[in-house]
Amino acid sequence: MKFFIDTANLEQIKEAKDLGILDGVTTNPSLMAKEGIQGKDAIMKHYKTICEIVEGDISAEVLSTTYDEMIAEGEELAAIHSNIVVKIPMIKDGVKALKYFSDKGIKTNCTLVFSAGQALLAAKAGATYVSPFLGRLDDISTDGLNLVEEIRLIYDNYMYETQILAASIRNSMHIINCAKIGSDVITSPLAPILSLLKHPLTDNGLAQFIADAKKLG
Ligand code: G3P
Repeated sequence: MKFFIDTANLEQIKEAKDLGILDGVTTNPSLMAKEGIQGKDAIMKHYKTICEIVEGDISAEVLSTTYDEMIAEGEELAAIHSNIVVKIPMIKDGVKALKYFSDKGIKTNCTLVFSAGQALLAAKAGATYVSPFLGRLDDISTDGLNLVEEIRLIYDNYMYETQILAASIRNSMHIINCAKIGSDVITSPLAPILSLLKHPLTDNGLAQFIADAKKLG
């Protein structure tokens, strides 16, 4: 399973990269705004910086919602770096845009996916990645992981090459359960990734080993 970090924060991206487990980065307009990135030039520059830090797929989201605008914007984003993946919302014009970019060999990430039907359409349109939002489904008392299972079954039935990129990850159990289900990728904030490595028995055991090592002289 590939690990992407879901942030536009350069320090966190570097920290995940330094851990040696990072395969890519996803961003969205909210995450860019959180970092105070404003204006087209600053946004494009920020994506370029991320591409220079991480060798892997970097999702850059279009801000427009009509077909023609998404195509123009997506082409500009794709021109920043060969690792840019154009992130497109699951709307009618978005499906058409996914097909356009797929035919052109430009990678895409279909975002804001909340149903198996939406994921099926994204695969039919040739999306490289589909992003079901687990946490936001959980927020409305729906089982986000169940959606990942449904998409896995459908994609396996027809051998769709679209990769499941589980998003809106909120905790380490989301990551572990996605791995059990067979999600191709998870994209997560840094904290749930780091919490995977924590266990009190590891800490206690290490403290004991260190104490005993001192006795060895
Ligand atoms: O990748 C999608 C993600 O950024 C949304 O996460 O926590 O805002 O639902 P969240």
